[in-house]
Amino acid sequence: MAYAATTDVDAEELRRRIQAGPHSLWRYRDFLPLTQAPPRDTLPAGWTPLLRADRLAERLGLREVWIKNDAANPTHSFKDRVVAVALARAKELGFQTIACASTGNLANAVAAHAAAAGLDSYVLIPSNLEEQKILATGVYGTHLVAVRGNYDDVNRLCTEIAGEHEWAFVNINMRPYYSEGSKTIAYEIAEQLGWAIPDRIVAPIASGSLFTKVAKGFEEWIELGLVNGTVPTMNGAQAAGCSPVATAFAEGTDICRPVKPDTIAKSLAIGNPADGPYAVELARRTGGGVDSVTDDEIRAGIKLLAETTGIFTETAGGVTTAVLAKLAERGDIDPGERVVAVITGEGLKTLDVVRDTFETYEIDATYEAFEAKVPGAVAA
Ligand SMILES: Cc1ncc(COP(=O)(O)O)c(C=O)c1O
Repeated sequence: MAYAATTDVDAEELRRRIQAGPHSLWRYRDFLPLTQAPPRDTLPAGWTPLLRADRLAERLGLREVWIKNDAANPTHSFKDRVVAVALARAKELGFQTIACASTGNLANAVAAHAAAAGLDSYVLIPSNLEEQKILATGVYGTHLVAVRGNYDDVNRLCTEIAGEHEWAFVNINMRPYYSEGSKTIAYEIAEQLGWAIPDRIVAPIASGSLFTKVAKGFEEWIELGLVNGTVPTMNGAQAAGCSPVATAFAEGTDICRPVKPDTIAKSLAIGNPADGPYAVELARRTGGGVDSVTDDEIRAGIKLLAETTGIFTETAGGVTTAVLAKLAERGDIDPGERVVAVITGEGLKTLDVVRDTFETYEIDATYEAFEAKVPGAVAA
C-alpha cells in the first residue's frame, strides 16, 4: 500500500490525490494491495451513487437515510469491487486463469472481468441458482460448472481444485486481496458525505467479508486523519433461512454453527461463514447487532425500497432493507442518526421473487374498460 510507506501522511494531500483519481474504485489505489498500477483493461467498478432516501426515512420514522446503490456496478453487484482487486493482483502474480466458488453475483463478476482482461475463467455455482444469474454468467464465455449441492459444497470442492491447479480462485487462494475490495464502499460513503462518517451502517452478511471490511475502511481513514469520528454502529443483515451469524449474535457467542440454507436470498446462502466470528465481534464492539428476516419480510423489503426510492434490489437488498425497517420499528435507531443502507445487488437478477406481489389490470383496448377496471381512472 503506497500510503503505508509514508511515515508522515498529509491528509489534505491524500484527499487531493483521491479526488484527482478516476471515477472508479481505482481512485483509492493507494489503499489497495497492489504493487503496480491497476490494469487498463478492467471494467470500471465502484464510485456508485449514494442517494438520500427521504421517503424511505419518512416511512420508517427516521430523519436521514442514505442508500449506497452498489447495484450500479458493471455486473450489477458489489462483487465487481472484490473481483477487480483480486484480478488485478492475480495478474501481478502471473496467473492466467481466474476462478471462484459463487452464490451467483461473484460468478457474474468473475466471468465478466476475466472476459474484459482476456483471461480464462472457471466459475463454480450451486446448480439451483436463479436462472437470471446463470444466464448473466454463461454469456461471457466462461467455463460454467453447476454443482449439485449448496454453496458450502461448492466451496469445499473449489478448495480441493485450488490445490491441484495454478488458478487464482478470487475468494479462496486470493481471498486476502479480494476482501480488501469491499473497503472501497466505506471510502466512497465517507467521500460522498463530504469526508464524514455516518452514524450507522446496515449491510448484508453471507461470509461476513463485506460487513467487516466496510468497518475496516472507516477505521483506516480515521487512523489517517482523512475523516474524524468513530467507526459507525454496524448492523448486519441475514435471511432467517441462513442466519448462523445472527444466531451466534443472539446467543452471545462468536461461534457460528454451520446451517443448511433454505431461503429465497440465495446470494446470502452461506451456511458456514468464514468471517462470521469477526462479524459478530464487530457488531458487538460498535453497539450494533446482527438480525435476520423471513422470506416474506425480504419480499416486503424489496417492495419498500422500490416504492420509496425507485431502486429495485435483489433479495440481498431486500434483507438489508427489511432489517433496517426492523431496527427502526424496534426503536433501535435514534431518529436523529444518519444511517446508510448498503444495497449490494440488482433486482433484475432475482425477478421471480416479486411475482404476484402487485396487481396488473388487464383490459380491452377501450376507454370504457380503462375507466371500469383501473383505480383512479375516472376523470374528475
Ligand atoms: C448481493 C450480495 N450481497 C451481499 C453478499 C455478502 O457478501 P459476503 O460474503 O462478503 O458477506 C453477497 C455475497 O455473495 C451478495 O451476492
